[in-house]
Amino acid sequence: MNFPDYRPRRLRKTENFRRMIRETGLSVDDLVCPLFVTHGRGVKNPISSMPGNFQMSIDNLVREVKKIKDSGIPAIMLFGIPEAKDEEGSGAWAEDGVIQQAVRKIKDKVADILVITDVCLCEYTNHGHCGVLDGSEVDNDATLEVLARTALSHALAGADMVAPSAMMDGQVCAIREMLDNAGYQDTPIMAYSAKYASCFYGPFREAAQGVPQFGDRRSYQMDPPNSREAIREIALDIEEGADIIMVKPALPYLDIIRRARDEFDLPIAAYNVSGEFSMIKAADKLGWLDGEKAMMESLVSIKRAGADIIITYFAREAAELLR
Ligand code: PBG
Repeated sequence: MNFPDYRPRRLRKTENFRRMIRETGLSVDDLVCPLFVTHGRGVKNPISSMPGNFQMSIDNLVREVKKIKDSGIPAIMLFGIPEAKDEEGSGAWAEDGVIQQAVRKIKDKVADILVITDVCLCEYTNHGHCGVLDGSEVDNDATLEVLARTALSHALAGADMVAPSAMMDGQVCAIREMLDNAGYQDTPIMAYSAKYASCFYGPFREAAQGVPQFGDRRSYQMDPPNSREAIREIALDIEEGADIIMVKPALPYLDIIRRARDEFDLPIAAYNVSGEFSMIKAADKLGWLDGEKAMMESLVSIKRAGADIIITYFAREAAELLR
């Protein structure tokens, strides 16, 4: 049927028609809110490039998590800023590390919200790379043991799910094995499977203080022009035991989310990263676009591309509008 018999505009005429034929829904159930936790007490440092986001000490963090839970968001994801960094990143797996303490406290004080932890070393190493160094290279295999130990320390503290983001080969397998051996066979892994070496992480690196002190992450994170390679990375993580796969960043990589959706049946998470958030906030502040509308359009587009879960700094604002 063609024009003039078929007129697509007929079903766009009113909001009720549009509601009735809407193909994609966005819900508060889809959202994960990332949070930055630091040492000390009474700390709530604004992150200048990410308006509305803070580095918080555990006391303030617990208050924030309660509010997030009350807004209906089902999960948070924690990033830690340790008091001290060292060559190997030992703060990442310390029993009294900032994440381990934060997880215990949240589990003690806030009922019924999922606590996901990022498993990586870049916030904990003095060189800012995501693994153990051998000269100026990140040593893949030596890093696996350290990542697994870190994931286990999070599980021991009570984390509901661990999310390895270091992009080391074999990291999901190493973590799965260590968790299983310690009796945490029921703790799921959300794998940052297709994580690109992206400039859109810029604001996050200020927030989490994990800037590499030399070089960049292109020897372990993926090259932005590659798409088939993302499918291979995801397939490997699934074979290694990932429960949820992730594509990161989200908006510049919607094609990767769509390909993953078509090829795999695991739940897909998309990470709407710091730069994607900050761009919209900056444009809104300049009056160049409507930040709220840009937020909602971005989030629903990530869903439309095929994501089930969206990790986003917009979670709290979006939850308000979705209630
Ligand atoms: C740690 C990590 C990063 C992000 C999430 N986990 C930074 C990086 O890889 O450089 C980025 C998140 C964001 O930009 O919002 N490896």
